[in-house]
Amino acid sequence: MKDFRYGGFAMSEKNNTGGEQAKALARLLAESRDTVIFTGAGISTESGLADFRSPGGIWDRFDPEDLSYPRFISSAESRHRYWKFYQQYWLEAMDVEPNRAHFAVARLEKSANLTAVVTQNIDGLHQKAGNGPEKVYELHGNMWEVRCLSCSELYPWEDILALLEEDKEVHNCERCGGLLKPTTISFGQSLPENVLREAQELCRNCDLLICIGSSLVVYPAASLPEQAKNGGAKLAILNREPTPLDRIADLVIHGEAGEIMSWAAEAVETNSF
Ligand code: APR
Repeated sequence: MKDFRYGGFAMSEKNNTGGEQAKALARLLAESRDTVIFTGAGISTESGLADFRSPGGIWDRFDPEDLSYPRFISSAESRHRYWKFYQQYWLEAMDVEPNRAHFAVARLEKSANLTAVVTQNIDGLHQKAGNGPEKVYELHGNMWEVRCLSCSELYPWEDILALLEEDKEVHNCERCGGLLKPTTISFGQSLPENVLREAQELCRNCDLLICIGSSLVVYPAASLPEQAKNGGAKLAILNREPTPLDRIADLVIHGEAGEIMSWAAEAVETNSF
């Protein structure tokens, strides 16, 4: 049975509609002076983008090992397979729009004390929904940015996709000869140090961290909600499935990101919680 935990005790779902759960979240947002929202792929599924670990997710269809960083730099053949994956990923994602959950998070920039959005997502949908780019910390990079791994020269992703569509190999950097790769962080690749450091600082100092749509199993990203909790923040987790951090959360909502976040944003804006 799904449960809804507020203040450390579980109430069965039959006493609590999604609306009640969203009001509990709205209360936390209204009390907070420094909120960080931490998101994962589950916030983008309503937009039509698959997440990674749900049934039918990306890791059901592709081997993460085959798309790892060590494999990418090991051979032209593995880079060819990586780019074939990206060709399909770009084509699937290029017309995707933000959904209710993204727009609710963007609205909270005005109606609540939202300091930052720290996301594991690479889709850029938080910025597209209206969150200021300076407030969005992309721990795992951005799929719409292709750079040289050696000199960081930027290459338009559209030009790379055009090569792939013509079955041509992706060339090396025209400036230094280095390998080109989307700035997304693959397994075995280090997260961007400055982004991780700033995100850790923000999470340690906030008074409320809300996790939305993440299985919270990938580190170091999943350590951020723990660091926020250790720093004295209240922790709220909104996810379709239970997560390993539910046990330390002040509020756990097992539900749909779009529905709950829309209701919570509405409750904050209308002061009805
Ligand atoms: N509403 C609420 N939760 C949802 C929804 C939804 N509409 N859709 C999916 N979920 C939940 C799933 O139940 C799952 O627990 O979102 C979670 C998504 O978890 P993952 O697929 O593991 O995605 P994420 O946590 O972002 O993965 C972290 O792993 O593979 C790496 O780099 C990749 O950034 C990714 C990282």
